[in-house]
Amino acid sequence: MIQVAPSLLAADFAHLAEAVEMVNRSEASLIHIDVMDGMFVPNITIGFPIISSISKIAEKPLDVHMMVMDPGRFVGQVRDCGAAIMNVHWEACTHLNRVIHTIKDAGMRAAVTLNPATPVMLLEDIIEELDMVLLMSVNPGFGGQKFIRQTVNKVRQLRAMIDGSASEATIEIDGGVDLNTAPALIEAGADILVAGSYVFRAADPVKAISDLKSL
Ligand code: DX5
Ligand code: ZN
Repeated sequence: MIQVAPSLLAADFAHLAEAVEMVNRSEASLIHIDVMDGMFVPNITIGFPIISSISKIAEKPLDVHMMVMDPGRFVGQVRDCGAAIMNVHWEACTHLNRVIHTIKDAGMRAAVTLNPATPVMLLEDIIEELDMVLLMSVNPGFGGQKFIRQTVNKVRQLRAMIDGSASEATIEIDGGVDLNTAPALIEAGADILVAGSYVFRAADPVKAISDLKSL
């Protein structure tokens, strides 16, 4: 069954506790948190003190998506603020294998994220080390963007790569996910859907999560 990870980026930051409590009450599997540095992506969002506060009230594991240059610098801080999963961008790591092992040694699940134009085949030599792969279905940096259709083909390629290897990595998709774009992703083999605007702009976010899960 598909899992849902609401992205707090689309929540009202003046009422973050209410957003986290809504996710606690919902059928979501994870809380997705977007960290941006203003260099890797042209935006700056949540940092470690805020993630620590979120982790004190969150009842779902924190899925921290690091849209920062050289994210290996922050493994200890991400762990200390309560993350269960640390997502690092392929494009932001010079020594990806080292970063992945540092994340696992710190006790977190390790995930690699690919930008829309980064091909899946670049993961061939690391796939068996990964707990999750996050495919971006928009260019990272902002919520509310249009879903990039080519992602569906990338999900299929990634599913085949994982199924043809000893990897147990799950496939997560991030960007432009809603009731219209999700079915093709699920059919292609996605395991987890991140959803920001779709969830937080809904009149009833708990129901929106449940609707996505029951596709
Ligand atoms: C974008 C972030 C996403 C964002 C998705 O860079 O990584 O997690 O919140 O937002 P929607 O679901 O609105 O596209
Ligand atoms: Zn994200």
